[in-house]
Amino acid sequence: MVLIGKLNLNRKSLIVALTGAGVSAESGVPIFRGRGSMWENETARNLAGKSGPPWNTRGTWEFYEWRRELVSRCEPNAAHLTLVEMEDFFYNFYLITQNVDGLHHRAGSRKVLELHGNMWKGRCPRDGEIVDLPKTPLETIPPIHSCGEALRPHVVQFGEPLEQKTLEAALDLSRRAELFLVIGTSGVVSPARDLPLLARKSGAVVIEVNREPTVLTPYVTLSIRGMAAEILPKLWEDLKKTIN
Ligand code: APR
Repeated sequence: MVLIGKLNLNRKSLIVALTGAGVSAESGVPIFRGRGSMWENETARNLAGKSGPPWNTRGTWEFYEWRRELVSRCEPNAAHLTLVEMEDFFYNFYLITQNVDGLHHRAGSRKVLELHGNMWKGRCPRDGEIVDLPKTPLETIPPIHSCGEALRPHVVQFGEPLEQKTLEAALDLSRRAELFLVIGTSGVVSPARDLPLLARKSGAVVIEVNREPTVLTPYVTLSIRGMAAEILPKLWEDLKKTIN
């Protein structure tokens, strides 16, 4: 790829990757929109229908336990593992994810900004404390905080604000990135979708990896069509050859 050859990267370059549900698709985790999405599953639809504010009810946790149980049977794929390799290679590599499945952590990624939270954590609506909930099934539904209040999933729901410091860190990295990868996202949810646009505007080379065109495609430097678990390892091999 001509573009890759022109990148003047070194180990100190600031590299940012933004991922969406598509990066976990080949691990067996359903995406949110389109074919193979969670909403094609009747159980998910029914459970999601009972989930809602204040988000710490039995209904919400039955939906999230369905997702947690499914993900507990999935393994990180080659795309997750390639991002770990890149994090190990570059001194300034950061991963920003919209996913709440925890597969980047399980793959070994350490520098991860979870824009939408993580469904393996609970949060107390009363005092805001965040609690790890690594085991599924949960002992009680809903899980109860030490203060006696029912926990909610530490996941951003539609209409809720993102954690300000996480968003500010993501915006700062997007402004400073030399290379910005956007992998497996439909690009329809803000503010995540604004990050690659900000990176491009700030002078980064933005490379999209997706099995199909997205609303972001016209705005990126290069859009590579294909499955993340297949494309990303190859892209990383090509990138490595150009690094002095
Ligand atoms: N490789 C690459 N891309 C893929 C693959 C794959 N194997 N499989 C699917 N995709 C792409 C789809 O083409 C689509 O563009 O992944 C994208 C998945 O889009 P969505 O299901 O909309 O997921 P995402 O973009 O992560 O959604 C953003 O919306 O529902 C909210 O909070 C939720 O974080 C989520 C946010």
